[in-house]
Amino acid sequence: MARIIIHTRGSPLVHRTPKGDVVVICMCGLSGNYPFCDGSHLKTDGEKGGAVYIYDSSGRRRGRAVKVEMEEGVVDLEDLVAV
Ligand code: FES
Repeated sequence: MARIIIHTRGSPLVHRTPKGDVVVICMCGLSGNYPFCDGSHLKTDGEKGGAVYIYDSSGRRRGRAVKVEMEEGVVDLEDLVAV
């Protein structure tokens, strides 16, 4: 089974707890230590707006869809190109 989860941020969320501890939460979805940021968001550098980038389970960028249609739970990735 496969699924597509779209993350739109390329940087972490930095949260300070009431005790003053800093927790850095992954918002890009690429961390190998999810839900915590491990710096993997740097792989999103160079991504262009208006496209969806596809990464494999090892965090390697595999492709880019330049036209994405989402309708009733169905995602149609057109014009998929390797990057
Ligand atoms: S925000 Fe995802 S690894 Fe840093």
